[in-house]
Amino acid sequence: FSLKNYNTFGIEAKAKQFISIHSNDELKTILQQYPNDEKFILGGGSNMLLTKDIEALVIHVDLKGRKIINENEDSVWVESQAGENWHEFVLWTINQNFGGLENMSLIPGNVGTTPVQNIGAYGTEVKDTFISCQAMEISTQETKTFTKDDCHFGYRESIFKNEAKNRYIITSVVFKLTKKNHKINISYGDISTELIKSNITNPTLKDVSNAVIAIRKNKLPDPKELGNSGSFFKNPILLKTDFQKIHQQFPEMKYYDVSETEVKVPAGWLIEQAGFKGKRFGDAGIHKNQALVLVNYGHATGQEILNVSRNIQETILGTFGIRIEAEVNII
Ligand code: EPU
Repeated sequence: FSLKNYNTFGIEAKAKQFISIHSNDELKTILQQYPNDEKFILGGGSNMLLTKDIEALVIHVDLKGRKIINENEDSVWVESQAGENWHEFVLWTINQNFGGLENMSLIPGNVGTTPVQNIGAYGTEVKDTFISCQAMEISTQETKTFTKDDCHFGYRESIFKNEAKNRYIITSVVFKLTKKNHKINISYGDISTELIKSNITNPTLKDVSNAVIAIRKNKLPDPKELGNSGSFFKNPILLKTDFQKIHQQFPEMKYYDVSETEVKVPAGWLIEQAGFKGKRFGDAGIHKNQALVLVNYGHATGQEILNVSRNIQETILGTFGIRIEAEVNII
């Protein structure tokens, strides 16, 4: 079974066996039917690089549905099944004037995988509105609720990338959104500039969403046109004491404070300075508008993209003494 259409990098890789599941009962049955088979859980396929065929049972989580489960005067609790497309879900909330997800418009992937890496953009992360998620334990088929505290969210991090890795299948997620007094956040540089272009001074949720969509379309390639997985690397977090030494040598290096003791350096800047932006190695390359994004021009293999990523990592380490880590899951 070819996975080419199931990963946004558009990598040609095969699965030994592939099953799409459409309900929790179906999921339970499949897990019981194949207790000893190795399993690979697939959502939107937007955050992984396939470097080989998958010698496992691929379970494609195609659970659909979204609804309001509770509300009061100020807030609404919405639940989405894991297989809903994230951006369509975000638009569904915005069209009802529910606030909280607008800055995360147009992020590829499905709702069920958003807590795994605590997706984020333009000053907002999933953890900011996340209430809980339901997940099925693969070994027992029991359903468990993970609250926000249970998830141990961090920058592109959660329990699902650590202790709970490969143990659960997230089946649905609940978010708490605002019905009024929306906390519009346009402090992230590009958004306000984009709004000014359209002469908007008092932006609605829709305006913010549209601004984010415009910025993303400008910088980030559409996976349907050019295979990619969004940011390939995380922005490295350095101790201020270490950063100060590097900064003396590279005074133009950009950085943001993340705590009293740490700073975050934009990996895109490091990659661009190292001369990789827009470069192409066969069909694998670095996007021309955003150096943090690796792209597949058509027939790149996962291994070729991985080689480019290693080349970048080694060069960055050699040039700046900074280690950058992949954000994308390498399979
Ligand atoms: N930069 C460069 N050259 C580049 C890219 C970026 O110099 O080629 C510099 C920019 O000038 C800017 C800084 O790096 O000063 C930050 O750039 P940008 O605002 O584009 O954000 P980013 O740090 O590159 C992060 C997320 C994105 C998210 C944007 C906006 C990570 C790993 N990436 O990128 O998330 O959309 O911020 O919030 O944190 C994703 O995770 O897949 C993703 C696209």
